[in-house]
Amino acid sequence: MPDAPSDTALTAPSAPDRAGGELFTEERSAEVVAASFENTPDPRLEQVLTSLGRHLHAFVKDVELTEEEWGVAIDFLTRTGHMSNEVRQEFILLSDVLGVSMLVETINHRTGGTSTESTVLGPFHMVESPHRELGENLALDGKGTPCLVSGRVTGPDGEPLAGASMDVWQTNEDGFYDVQQPGIQPAGNLRGLFTAGDGGRFWFRSVVPRFYPIPNDGPVGQLLAATGRHPNRPAHLHFIVAADGYRPVTTHVFVADSPYLDSDAVFGVKESLIREVPEVDDPAKAVEAGLANPFRTLTFDVTLLRADQAPPAAQPAQAQPTLVRGAPS
Ligand code: BEZ
Ligand code: FE
Repeated sequence: MPDAPSDTALTAPSAPDRAGGELFTEERSAEVVAASFENTPDPRLEQVLTSLGRHLHAFVKDVELTEEEWGVAIDFLTRTGHMSNEVRQEFILLSDVLGVSMLVETINHRTGGTSTESTVLGPFHMVESPHRELGENLALDGKGTPCLVSGRVTGPDGEPLAGASMDVWQTNEDGFYDVQQPGIQPAGNLRGLFTAGDGGRFWFRSVVPRFYPIPNDGPVGQLLAATGRHPNRPAHLHFIVAADGYRPVTTHVFVADSPYLDSDAVFGVKESLIREVPEVDDPAKAVEAGLANPFRTLTFDVTLLRADQAPPAAQPAQAQPTLVRGAPS
């Protein structure tokens, strides 16, 4: 029969026997976890994980997270993962509604006010879009309020960028992209790839897009509902503009009279990207534009930074004027 364990056998080993790290305590939790990453071979990975740990621990302490709340959070993230597949990325949507997508985008595409600002890509971009000639009509189904879209692509010194590529996509007048309505909208409706012409000029015919809700039938939609937030994005056209030797920009142009400009569900609106879309009521001009009268016009000039231009440093935080626009009805 083995001897009963002695008191000494049950005693925890004394501190000098534990050659490893400091033991976990509430007060020093972040430091203890940070120390566990000290041997990470990739210094950037160590920096990111250490900072993530520090902020996560500060957050848990700040709100004194309960076990029940932690369980709800784990369940939420699990459902977010289960909702994601090759066509639906609920984690990106979560990042979008938390403003993280816009922050990462903005940090990585600082313009210092010298070029067109960027905004989120969104899930409705198609890797392969139809090539179109300048002037073509994107509204394959002919529905919607006609709109002539035009502008110039230039470099930082105003040099015209003829040959710049422009990938454009937008919703129809009901607020749906073609990929959301197969069988209702023709494939490739309201999207296309253009090449800027002489002087960096581009123009195409289209319709005025409408505001629309981001996909809200999953956990992210529940988060918005639980926090009293609406899921809508203001009306916009998406652009990806690229030219050899210049930094590409992924951006939108927003319609100035759209609802939700001041409460975009994904925080994508930047003041510099909002444009008036005035109506032209002139039969002769409508004939010239190849559109029905009356029609609306949208002008959007795009400026790209040179690829070798150093990204501008972060601007110090300063009070911004509040964007106050008409609330949706
Ligand atoms: C979009 O503009 O297409 C979009 C952006 C972020 C989330 C959902 C949609
Ligand atoms: Fe969009």
